Amino acid sequence: MKVCIVGASGKLGRYMVQHALDREYEVVGVCREQSVGKLDAFKGRITILPGATNDREVIRRAVEGCDGVLTVLVPWGVQQYASGTAQAVLDYARPGARLVFSCGWHITRDGQDAYSRTFLWLVAAVGWLARIARFVDLNDQVEACNRIFASDTKWTVVRGSDLEEGESRGLPVWSRHVGDPILKSNRTRRIDFALFMVDALTNDTLIQEAPAIVGCQTPSAVAHTKSIDAQGGQSTASKESAS
Ligand SMILES: NC(=O)c1ccc[n+]([C@@H]2O[C@H](COP(=O)([O-])OP(=O)(O)OC[C@H]3O[C@@H](n4cnc5c(N)ncnc54)[C@H](OP(=O)(O)O)[C@@H]3O)[C@@H](O)[C@H]2O)c1
Repeated sequence: MKVCIVGASGKLGRYMVQHALDREYEVVGVCREQSVGKLDAFKGRITILPGATNDREVIRRAVEGCDGVLTVLVPWGVQQYASGTAQAVLDYARPGARLVFSCGWHITRDGQDAYSRTFLWLVAAVGWLARIARFVDLNDQVEACNRIFASDTKWTVVRGSDLEEGESRGLPVWSRHVGDPILKSNRTRRIDFALFMVDALTNDTLIQEAPAIVGCQTPSAVAHTKSIDAQGGQSTASKESAS
């Protein structure tokens, strides 16, 4: 499998590069010119295309011949960075390619997510402050995801919980809606977020899904698995995550 990783030099991106190499995939990475050095550990093992991720020509060349594209969607600046990146990937990836995008729980696909008041307040406050500082535009990440949701490509939008560093605990579990009890712990190791993204490339049950993920060993995930086991069954989320 040949995969392109857009945003390869970031923390999530570098974990994805490692997981993809572990699976012996051929990797093409896109990152900003000034960040190429962050990928030195992979020198000789991946192809790097330096450039802004919303540069359509860079993306066109990077995704050529790729079976899958992993995109770190980041709402940097106020020049439609996230939506420009997403649109270029949607436009230039070959038909039938698996397209997997990252974002946070604040993105909702169908409006059925149940957020706590604190969460909504934080997103609004951080979003407003960052936008007036012209630092980050969360609305543009929303726009990027709306374009993905409307596309008929083989997309998956992986919605990450709060993140932490540390060794892998295994493939996260997921649910369609924030607010579901399994997600209550709101914590995933970044290395496992990356694992879920790479695993999604070969998990067809995730096509046109927007899974909200949580660490598989967090208290809420463990409690959910126990209660399902007690009922002698398996939940959709844990069944699909295990596949
Ligand atoms: N952080 C969280 O708690 C959290 C929670 C849930 C979901 N997520 C999602 O996880 C994904 C990765 O987030 P992360 O926090 O882990 O960060 P990250 O992996 O370090 O990624 C940051 C990315 O943004 C790029 N970047 C930084 N400054 C930029 C700029 N001024 N212009 C353009 N690109 C710039 C970085 O590229 P360079 O290497 O070139 O700097 C890197 O590719 C995102 O999709 C985010 O929505 C994050």
